[in-house]
Amino acid sequence: MRILGIETSCDETGIAVYDEQQGLLSHQLYSQAKMHADYGGVVPELASRDHIRKIVPLIERCLADADTDKTQIDGIAYTSGPGLIGALLVGSTVARGLAFAWQKPVIGIHHMEGHLLAPMLEDTQAEFPFVALLVSGGHSLLVEVTAIGEYQLLGESIDDAVGEAFDKTAKIMGLDYPGGPRLAKLAEQGRPGRYKFPRPMTDRPGLDFSFSGLKTFAANTLRDSDQSAQTLADIAYAFQEAAVDTLVIKCKRALKQTGHKRLVIAGGVSANTFLRSQLDKLLTSLGGQVYYPRLEFCTDNGAMIAYAGLQRLKAGQADTNLKVRPRWPLTELEAL
Ligand code: KG4
Ligand code: ZN
Repeated sequence: MRILGIETSCDETGIAVYDEQQGLLSHQLYSQAKMHADYGGVVPELASRDHIRKIVPLIERCLADADTDKTQIDGIAYTSGPGLIGALLVGSTVARGLAFAWQKPVIGIHHMEGHLLAPMLEDTQAEFPFVALLVSGGHSLLVEVTAIGEYQLLGESIDDAVGEAFDKTAKIMGLDYPGGPRLAKLAEQGRPGRYKFPRPMTDRPGLDFSFSGLKTFAANTLRDSDQSAQTLADIAYAFQEAAVDTLVIKCKRALKQTGHKRLVIAGGVSANTFLRSQLDKLLTSLGGQVYYPRLEFCTDNGAMIAYAGLQRLKAGQADTNLKVRPRWPLTELEAL
């Protein structure tokens, strides 16, 4: 089976062709980040319009790169939620239009399931069951995964997602959108030990997160400081250290609670090298293993949607109606 994948949930147009036997044949990504940077965050209406401009040329290029014509496509997968409704509608209508014209099955994919399965695009894949830490700009989830579509929610953020906290803190510190990776870069110049930030909700049982207080803590620390370049880097270091440490503490708890020794991390924040190295250390100490996607598949992309689509279409699932769900709990998905 060969699947065309389409991702348009936020500010990236991601397209890919994935073949069941040969793996990923091609992928294209267009990021709108520069356009939104002037506004300090994603402007939904601009995002929708830009997806409209980019989606068809990207699909054409992707099919050409994969040396694939429409008759060789066996199905189409698109992100149907969660995300910005206008952006989702662009991907879903194009996907369904192509499916109608080409007479192929089509399926709407949950964006976070796409992220969750992105590490499966790599050579070494995690066997089920495992614990997944899904950390993006919109979500912070700890999930027990027993099979594709069988997701038990262990914990989630009660306020800001961790990526959102990175982005908001970066903005407070005067860094451009998208701030998460910029803050992480600045933290490399920071010195350990100068500031100590709290580890929210780690002093009580449970696996939920809260990250909005960290952003306020950073804002107050900055306000009371000399605001020199070194101080900014030290604050970035302390913020990242606290956010990562909090995630590590909760992952350790989730692994203990479930008894699993495999941890999958995915979503934009899984690109954070400090988080990766700390989780590598944790899993080594527990005699387990951590799995993550290559850097380009941590953030939004079409390959993860094509891969998830293949799994579901292969199992005989397909949509009959146009489906977009800006809000959509991961735990509502159908098992295969
Ligand atoms: O998965 P993603 O591309 O989009 C959503 O589904 O939200 O994740 C984007 C998020 C942003 O908040 C971005 O700042 C964050 O991932 N991010 C990072 C890093 N790279 C991306 N956060 C911390 N460190 C990074 N290296
Ligand atoms: Zn995402």
